[in-house]
Amino acid sequence: MSGRMRAAVVRRTGGPEVFRVEDVPEAVAGPGESLVDVVFAGVNYEDLDLRSGHHPHSLPAVLGVDAVGRRRFDGHRVAVLLRQGGGYAQVVAATDAHTVELPDEVDDQQAAALLEQGATGYGALVLAGRLQRGESVAVSAAAGGVGHLTIQLARSLGAGTVVGLASTPEKRKLVQTLGADVALDPADPQLAERLREATGGGVDLFVDSVGGAVLRSAMRGLRPFGRLVCIGWRDEPDEVSTEHLAELSVGCVGFWMRHVVADRRLLRTITDQLFALAGRRELVARIDRIVALDEVGAAHAAMAARDTSGKVLIDVNREVGLLS
Ligand SMILES: NC(=O)c1ccc[n+]([C@@H]2O[C@H](COP(=O)([O-])OP(=O)(O)OC[C@H]3O[C@@H](n4cnc5c(N)ncnc54)[C@H](OP(=O)(O)O)[C@@H]3O)[C@@H](O)[C@H]2O)c1
Repeated sequence: MSGRMRAAVVRRTGGPEVFRVEDVPEAVAGPGESLVDVVFAGVNYEDLDLRSGHHPHSLPAVLGVDAVGRRRFDGHRVAVLLRQGGGYAQVVAATDAHTVELPDEVDDQQAAALLEQGATGYGALVLAGRLQRGESVAVSAAAGGVGHLTIQLARSLGAGTVVGLASTPEKRKLVQTLGADVALDPADPQLAERLREATGGGVDLFVDSVGGAVLRSAMRGLRPFGRLVCIGWRDEPDEVSTEHLAELSVGCVGFWMRHVVADRRLLRTITDQLFALAGRRELVARIDRIVALDEVGAAHAAMAARDTSGKVLIDVNREVGLLS
């Protein structure tokens, strides 16, 4: 007989106030799945779009695409990717092919921050971007969950000049602490020129998750034969003209984690590399805050207000007012 669990449930789309922490039946593992008792669940920007209804999905829903916990049948520490959501809960039914056993050197918080967002940074730089040693890299939202890992990965993969974009002086300071040579303000009207100056003529590889004006400046800031890697956008997706690509001799590619998740060997290869770097402390996730399930709405509000740097985690077993 299955038990009960606490989960942050969304019954109608809307603002951060729509989350309700409820006592619900525990997740049930289907074929090829195992139950995992969650320790930390991750918050990702995509969750905000699902909660608000910007990305349609069925309701009621438990959001959350990444988590770390203990696999119930053998007690192993695992990190899981949950393509159908379900992470903001004490128990998840995780697809075995999307489950990674954790090495001792990587603690739960680091693993929870690295899996989805670190693999995205790696995929953008290596799989889509085909980064070569010595090439210059620029990253938008560089203080964010994906961005702050992408900056560090670019460094450890042997990039030349690394440039991070971030909207406040504090975030730009953080981006430089993480290993960026230069930190720029994405709102700078001269952004394209600044990118060219910072890289001695133009960026080889720009990883963008913002779109709009930043993407347009990024295109103009590339050097001939440079590449733009699109991993996301804030408002609406942009149209990129083939005429523009040809005139500038630049490339534009996309990256989506679902193509890594669909390939078990690729996922394994990437996570092995991420965890090896993390074990040597060459890749260190910054944990912005750890909230209780009851505080998920406030965490979403902070993320929407661009008030977070690094990873936001949920301690699914902490109850507000019971434990600090
Ligand atoms: N392709 C994939 O497989 C994949 C996987 C994971 C994530 N992503 C994408 O990667 C991006 C980053 O995700 P994340 O979870 O790591 O989030 P995040 O970077 O921690 O947070 C988003 C950041 O984007 C910047 N931003 C720029 N314009 C914004 C706006 N209008 N509203 C809010 N923020 C704005 C902000 O940084 P500044 O204030 O410094 O500008 C903000 O802190 C998202 O677009 C997400 O969809 C893609």
